[in-house]
Amino acid sequence: MIYEPTVFADMAGRTVAVTGAARGIGEAHVLALVRNGVNVVAGDLDKGAIAATAKRLGEECRGGATIAPMSIDVTRAEDHHALAERALERYGTLDGWINNAGRYALSGVLETSGAEFTLMHDVHVLGVSFGVQAAVRAMGESGGAIVNVASIAAYVVRARSGAYSASKAAVDHLTKFQAVELGARGIRVNAVAPGMIDTDMLSSLTGEGGIPRSAVEAVPLRRIGTPGEVSDTVLFLLSDASRFVTGHTLVVDGGGRHR
Ligand SMILES: NC(=O)c1ccc[n+]([C@@H]2O[C@H](COP(=O)([O-])OP(=O)(O)OC[C@H]3O[C@@H](n4cnc5c(N)ncnc54)[C@H](O)[C@@H]3O)[C@@H](O)[C@H]2O)c1
Repeated sequence: MIYEPTVFADMAGRTVAVTGAARGIGEAHVLALVRNGVNVVAGDLDKGAIAATAKRLGEECRGGATIAPMSIDVTRAEDHHALAERALERYGTLDGWINNAGRYALSGVLETSGAEFTLMHDVHVLGVSFGVQAAVRAMGESGGAIVNVASIAAYVVRARSGAYSASKAAVDHLTKFQAVELGARGIRVNAVAPGMIDTDMLSSLTGEGGIPRSAVEAVPLRRIGTPGEVSDTVLFLLSDASRFVTGHTLVVDGGGRHR
C-alpha cells in the first residue's frame, strides 16, 4: 500500500515508535513517517510480517530515514521498554510514539467470554498505558508527542461490539488523563478515532460479501477511509502544527458517526 503522505516540514530527522506496524493502518503510519524523513522503530506481534514490511518500506525512506523492525507484544510492559531502548540505541532520541496495535472481538452481550474481555483490555488498555510509560521514560527532558489509536466504536453503539468498544472508550478516556499528567513534561498526548478503514481488520468483519452498500451510503462522504487518511491525521498530531493541542481525540470517519 503506497500512497503520497502529507509532508510536515518539522518532522524530518525525528524518531517515532509505532506499534502494530506490520499491516493496515500501522503500516501506513510507517510509510508516512519515513516519507517525512522520520526514523521509525516498528513493532508488531507478527515477527515475519514486520520484517517484510520494514524491508518493503525501506525503499520509501526519504532524507536518510531508516526503519528498525522488532517483534513485540503490546500486552507486555517489557516489550514496550525494549522498543524504546531500540530507538535510543539506534537513533539516540525518541520524539514520538504511536500506540496503534489492535484486535477485534465480535460477540453479543450474552456470549462474550472472559477471555475476550481480557484480550480487548490487555491489547488496548494495557497496550496504550505501557506504551505511554515507555515513551515518557525514553523522551526524558526533551518532551515529545504521543498518539493513541482509539475507534469510532468508543462513541457509536453497534450490536455485538461491547468488549471492543468498551476498551476503545477506555483508550479515549485514558488519553485525557495522560495529557493532563504529562503536559508539564512537554509531552502532548492525543488520540485518533477511525471510522471504517479499508484494512484486514475491517475485511475480517465483513466477510466475502464486503461492506454492505447501505453502510457506505450512510457515511456522509459516501465511502470508507484509507489507512493513509488516518496516518495523515496522526502525523498532524505528532507535528508542531498541533503544538497547542493535547488531550484531544480526532475522529477520522468521513462523518459516519453522525448517521
Ligand atoms: N480498520 C478499521 O476500520 C479501524 C477502525 C477503528 C479503529 N481501528 C484501530 O486501528 C488500529 C489498527 O487497525 P487495523 O485496521 O490496521 O488492524 P489490522 O488487523 O489490519 O492490523 C493490526 C496490527 O496489530 C498487530 N497486533 C495485534 N495484537 C498485537 C499485540 N498484542 N502486540 C503487537 N502487535 C499486535 C497485528 O499483528 C497487526 O499487524 C487498531 O487499534 C484498531 O482497533 C481500526
